[in-house]
Amino acid sequence: MVLRINGKGQQSHRLVIFFAVFILTTLLILYGSNNSNDGSYIPFNVALIRATKTTDLKKWSGRDGYMPLYGNKSMTLHCHNCALVTSSSHVLGSQAGSEVDQTECVIRMNDAPTSGYESDVGNRTTVRVVAHASVFRVIKRPNEYLQRTDSNSTIIFWGPPNKIGKDAKGTLFRLLQRVSMTYSNLSFFSISPNKMRKFDNLFTRETGRDRQKSHSWLSTGWFTMVIAIEMCDNIKVYGMVPPNYCGKKTASKKMPYHYYKPRGSDECLMYIQNESGRRGNHHRFITEKQVFARWAKQYNITFTNPKW
Ligand SMILES: *[C@@H]1O[C@H](CO)[C@@H](O)[C@H](O)[C@H]1NC(C)=O
Ligand SMILES: *[C@@H]1O[C@H](CO)[C@@H](O)[C@H](O)[C@H]1NC(C)=O
Ligand SMILES: *[C@@H]1O[C@H](CO)[C@@H](O)[C@H](O)[C@H]1NC(C)=O
Ligand SMILES: *[C@@H]1O[C@H](CO)[C@@H](O)[C@H](O)[C@H]1NC(C)=O
Ligand SMILES: *[C@@H]1O[C@H](CO)[C@@H](O)[C@H](O)[C@H]1NC(C)=O
Ligand SMILES: *[C@@H]1O[C@H](CO)[C@@H](O)[C@H](O)[C@H]1NC(C)=O
Repeated sequence: MVLRINGKGQQSHRLVIFFAVFILTTLLILYGSNNSNDGSYIPFNVALIRATKTTDLKKWSGRDGYMPLYGNKSMTLHCHNCALVTSSSHVLGSQAGSEVDQTECVIRMNDAPTSGYESDVGNRTTVRVVAHASVFRVIKRPNEYLQRTDSNSTIIFWGPPNKIGKDAKGTLFRLLQRVSMTYSNLSFFSISPNKMRKFDNLFTRETGRDRQKSHSWLSTGWFTMVIAIEMCDNIKVYGMVPPNYCGKKTASKKMPYHYYKPRGSDECLMYIQNESGRRGNHHRFITEKQVFARWAKQYNITFTNPKW
């Protein structure tokens, strides 16, 4: 559009008024949203979850939310029993490996390895859910993450559509496509932009807080739990603490955030800091677990190491 204000005084006058009104309105909207409750995160412990309408995760969105990165595969996996093995150090010493391996489907996250930890986490992988930020770590060690799997295992990537979506022209997407072509015996999917929005809306519905306005990032655990509920009739979760765990005195013993990084950050410290973080975006690990606790009553989800 070209604005011509030469000579026509009246017209430029109107233009000035128009812009003044526009700027005022914008300021009012900005001011208003800053003052609304959605703008700040209610920290851990006082996090009140207002479950409005419950969503039936068994049919909340079709399987077309998973786009094959290569070929025309579709995400049709269904399992009666699933083991969801978390990446928490709470799995260490559990000796749950053989029980995990005897489960029909085994679900893991990001770059959680099995080599060296078989007795606690098992050695099979049926599904691995990987965040865009973990892609490089996974494909850097194909013998660990892409070869030590069940035959025809499924790898699901989640991330912003501009990074992993079909229309993304970036290097990350091309890399994922190349890997999917090389390992055509496995099934690689990325979560569609439409389904990513559904994951956001689900967070908003389940927590009463707008995901973006509350500066929250979803965790891989959030995606993995929802995917597990979609595809499994029964789920046993290994190594996830209950939502109130980190406020308790029993939690004072330092437990690494990841079982494969013994010198890494303490899990509870990470959870509490993220939960109360306001500037920048943060994971709401504790809030997410409050939602999982509610889902556990609705679907058959059990928790072990610790049991709850
Ligand atoms: C998928 O591709 C294979 C091989 O290219 C073809 O045989 C099959 O018919 C296709 N399936 C669908 C549902 O398009
Ligand atoms: C392999 O997995 C994909 C995705 O879950 C599925 O569509 C396909 O039917 C499976 N193939 C075999 C041979 O089991
Ligand atoms: C897992 O361990 C069992 C028993 O130790 C072994 O027979 C099997 O080959 C292993 N599977 C994989 C995928 O490494
Ligand atoms: C899949 O194919 C790759 C490359 O051809 C191979 O190295 C790998 O062992 C195969 N994985 C499975 C689970 O069969
Ligand atoms: C619920 O799941 C557990 C293990 O995941 C299983 O042992 C139990 O039989 C299931 N209960 C029902 C009612 O299906
Ligand atoms: C939040 O958690 C992530 C791990 O997902 C971590 O990298 C980050 O440092 C944490 N932030 C805070 C403020 O603790």
